[in-house]
Formats: sequence, C-alpha cells, structure tokens
Amino acid sequence: MEKMLDLITGEVTKAFIACGYDEKYARVTLSNRPDLCEYQCNGALAAAKEYHCAPFMISDKVAEELKQSEMFESVDSVKPGFLNLILSKEYLASYMQSMQKDEERLGCEKAKNPKTIIIDYGGPNVAKPLHVGHLRSAIIGESIKRIGKFMGHEVIGDVHLGDWGLQMGLIITELRERKPELVYYDENYTGEYPKEAPFTISELEEIYPTASAKSKEDEAYKEAAMKATSELQAGRRGYQALLSHILNVSVTDLKKNYENLNVSFELWKGESDAQPYIPDMVEQMKKDGFAYMSDGALVVDVAKEEDTKEIPPCIILKSDGASLYTTTDLATLIMREQDYHPDEVIYVVDKRQELHFVQVFRCAKKTGIVPEDTKLEFLGFGTMNGKDGKPFKTREGGVMRLEMLMKNINEKMYEKITENHTVDPNEAEKTAKIVALSAIKYGDLSNQASKDYIFDIDRFTSFEGNTGPYILYTIVRIKSILAKYAEAGKSAKDAVIQPAHSDSEKALMLELSKFNAVMENAYEEKAPHKLCAYIYDLSNAFNHFYHETKIMAEEDAAVQAGYIRLLELTKSALEICIDLLGFEAPEKM
Ligand code: ARG
Repeated sequence: MEKMLDLITGEVTKAFIACGYDEKYARVTLSNRPDLCEYQCNGALAAAKEYHCAPFMISDKVAEELKQSEMFESVDSVKPGFLNLILSKEYLASYMQSMQKDEERLGCEKAKNPKTIIIDYGGPNVAKPLHVGHLRSAIIGESIKRIGKFMGHEVIGDVHLGDWGLQMGLIITELRERKPELVYYDENYTGEYPKEAPFTISELEEIYPTASAKSKEDEAYKEAAMKATSELQAGRRGYQALLSHILNVSVTDLKKNYENLNVSFELWKGESDAQPYIPDMVEQMKKDGFAYMSDGALVVDVAKEEDTKEIPPCIILKSDGASLYTTTDLATLIMREQDYHPDEVIYVVDKRQELHFVQVFRCAKKTGIVPEDTKLEFLGFGTMNGKDGKPFKTREGGVMRLEMLMKNINEKMYEKITENHTVDPNEAEKTAKIVALSAIKYGDLSNQASKDYIFDIDRFTSFEGNTGPYILYTIVRIKSILAKYAEAGKSAKDAVIQPAHSDSEKALMLELSKFNAVMENAYEEKAPHKLCAYIYDLSNAFNHFYHETKIMAEEDAAVQAGYIRLLELTKSALEICIDLLGFEAPEKM
C-alpha cells in the first residue's frame, strides 16, 4: 500500500502542476502545528523566488485547485504562503479499511529487492557468565533482525561466540590441576574421548573466574595457560576434545538463557570456526603485498589520507605468530562471504570497539576479502548504567549477571501484579515474566542504541508513561473490550471502520495510517527506538479515544461494530510492533 504521506504528496503535486508550478515545490510534511492542521506544504515560500510573486499568491492558487480533491476536508492557504491540510474523514476511513484487509502486514510492502543480511550480535564469551553488557547486543540485534525479516529480507543472525583465546587455555590449565586423572592430557592417547563432558555448567562457570584470578597472581600458572592455549590452537587432540565439551555445555546453557529473553540465532558459529581460514588468508595478504613485517608483527596499513585521527595498522599476526581478535574477525568474513555472499554484514557491538571494526572493515575491503559493494556496518551501542550514572552493578558492587537482573525484575513485576488483586500464583508468575521482559526490552530499545542509558527498574516496570508495561496494558485493555463484545454474542466480522465520529477517533486513525512509513524508516535507519516512539504515540491516541468514547454503551450497532474493527486494527498494529521489538502481550494483567 502506498504510504499516506506519498499519497498526499501526489495529490499536492498534481495541483502544483495544474497551476503551472514546478512539482519540486510540492513537498508535504506532517504538520508541526497539529492544532491547526494534519499535514502541511511550505513549497510556495520557495517557489515565490522562481516565479517572482508573493508566496501566498501561489498557495492561494494551489489551495483553490486542491479544494476539488476528495482527499481533504479542508485546505487552507495561510500567509505568508503555507498550505494547511486536513484529511477528509471518509478518505482516512477508506485507508483504514485497506490496511485492515491486509491482515498480516497492514499495508506495509516488502522490499522489492530483498537483500541477504548477516547480523552479528550476542557475542557471548564461552564459559564466562552472561552479564548485562551482553544484554544490549542481544536485545538490539534481535529487534533489528526481526524488522529486517518483516521487510522481506533474508536476515541471518550469528551469535559469534567468543570461544578462542586465553580463556580456553585457562580452563584447561585449571582442569588439569583439579582432575589430573582425565585422559585428555595424555599426548600418546590415540583412542576415542568420552562423550560425556567431565564437568557441569556450574562447575565450568566457577572454573573460569578461579583460573583467571590465579593467573593474575601466579606467573607459572599464567604461562601454563598460554602454553595450553597455543597447543589448543595448534590442534592438540585432547585439548580439542575438551574444547568441544566446553562448547557443548556452554551452548546448551546459553540457548536456555537466550530463550528466556525471546532471542534466537540462525547460526551458532564462533571464533574457533574461523581458524581454518587463517593460514590461507595470511598467505594471500603477503602474496598480494598488503601484509608486511613491522616490529616483528605482520601488519596491513589501513590509514587513509582523509583521516582526522590516527588509524593504526591492522595487526594480522603477533610476533609469536599468534592470531588476534582482528585476525579472527577477518577470517570470519571470508567464511561468511563463502557461505552466504551477503549484501550487508551488521555488527551490534559495544561502541567502545569501534576502532577495531574500522580497522577490520578497511582491511577486508583493501585486501579483497569482501567485494567493494558489500556493506559492512558497525552499530555501536552505549553503556547501560545504574541510577548513579555508572556502569550497572549489583548491590554489593560486583558485576551484575544477567540471570540476577532477570530474577530481580521478575520479582518486582510479580509483586506489582499481585499487589492489588488476588490472582492465581501460577498465572501471576507467568504474566510477571512476560511483562518483565517488556520492561527490560522496551526500557533498552526506546533509547537510541548508540546512547548510554540509565537502567531504572522502578521506571521501566511502571504501568504508566513511556514503558513496555504501559504498551502491554493498552493491548490487554483492547483485548478485554473485544472479549466483552464477543461475550455479548456480537460479531463485527462484516462491519467496516467508519469515518471518524470524534477528534480523538480521527487522531487514532491518523496514527494508524503512519504504520507502513514508520516501519520502513525503522528498517532503513536500523532504529528500533522509532518503533517504540510510534507505539507510544499510538497507545496514547488509543487511550485518549477510549476515555472519550462509550464503546460498549454505543446504541447504534453499526457504529459500535465500526469501533470494534478500529480496535482490532489498533491491536494488530501494536502486536506486530512489539513482536518486532522482541516481546509479547499477556491475556490479562
Ligand atoms: N565476544 C566479544 C565481546 O564480548 C563480542 C563479539 C562481537 N562480534 C565480533 N564479530 N567481533 O567483547
């Protein structure tokens, strides 16, 4: 379906042309004076220069022409030369009806040229517990992925596990101390390794911090860990077998955690999957003359003349021949190019890693790892801070683990839900979980991703104001009216949305009519916060309409059925949006 703004622009364009003016002046925008009009065109002001006349002469003439159009209820030419437009109620209602006919997409068209897009998000580090920093990547990446899919693109989410590097060597070293009897360390062993992992997830989660602390105090321990890491990387069989156990146990646990967040990934690849691509990549870079030795390390220059700050060379191999985070990301791009030939690769990562990605992207383009026209995009997000404006911590000052945070917010929500009325505890617990997720996700996504924000559990869980629970409350309110209507034995199936009977009803329809434009814009700008802003406005418009209208007491059956249809449309729009944000609404709350 064509966007409302485009339809209006089309009509105004016709009028400009009919009056003998260039169509480039027929630019229409949403009104910045909603008290006066709904849409406006200020083109006459600019056109006046070209046609050497007063702007209002132009706006008057165009207004006369536009008055013949059925699209508008009123067209005002206002000095010095504004065109103030108010849509006709009939026209708006017919737009609502067309939206409603397209049940699943409400008139939002899919992209004409679907792209293949890989989104790299989540990025948890294996064997280390998920902390709140990983939360943002998961929440934002998941939403961008869903929006992209809704717009008809092929979007592939890759969790890109941090499963390579010193943390693995540390775990192996600690395991050797604790369980020296295991078969994995015997270099002469040629048989099969046990299928069962020699540790549980809780053990693993405790092993890593212990080993990490030890390595900071004990030089010999640290060296052992580094040696284990490079032996693992060189392919030592027993260590490889341990790595797959570590991966299996961690991934099972991670999947459970992400499931609770309503986050899922198409690909469970990690840094270790990129390793086989490294040797050939390095050879090629040397052969092509891109990589050279500098201070013992192998580097590729990526600075550009126009740079205003220094961009250091990309280090491909350290002096001891070990690969780095950069090496892995470059090799991962080779793998992605080979498997998917993506049009775009988007990285949803902490914005403090920006320089790393500038280097990786430039190096990948320069050395031909990805074609020139592949779009590599870094979507850096800000820090989640506590109420004191500092990075979020536990009450005791420790790193806040994701599980802890979820537990706190679930409990808070449970209290709220059970505080005023008696509800079945099981039911309340389920509802609390659903609503709590909306509080966390909306609290995060309603901010522009690149900004830092304050995690304020009291504000996020409030049922009023710009919050997830407020949006859910609105949806639940609509559901309950629809249920009452059905319980009364009525059906609006054959009814249509009627021209608005009141200002508040029209205002609701105007919000609804922006649906497809908002969606396209949120996709283009990779900006879930635009969806949040939209559903907040839409919920406000609905609640205003609801308070001013006696829906259930309406005596005219056709009018009432029309309201019900409008409620259904509002509910669909809200539900599509919250699904793209990654949460859902309960039946009651
Ligand atoms: N594991 C990394 C971290 O925790 C994030 C990975 C981001 N993705 C990437 N392709 N580098 O910092």
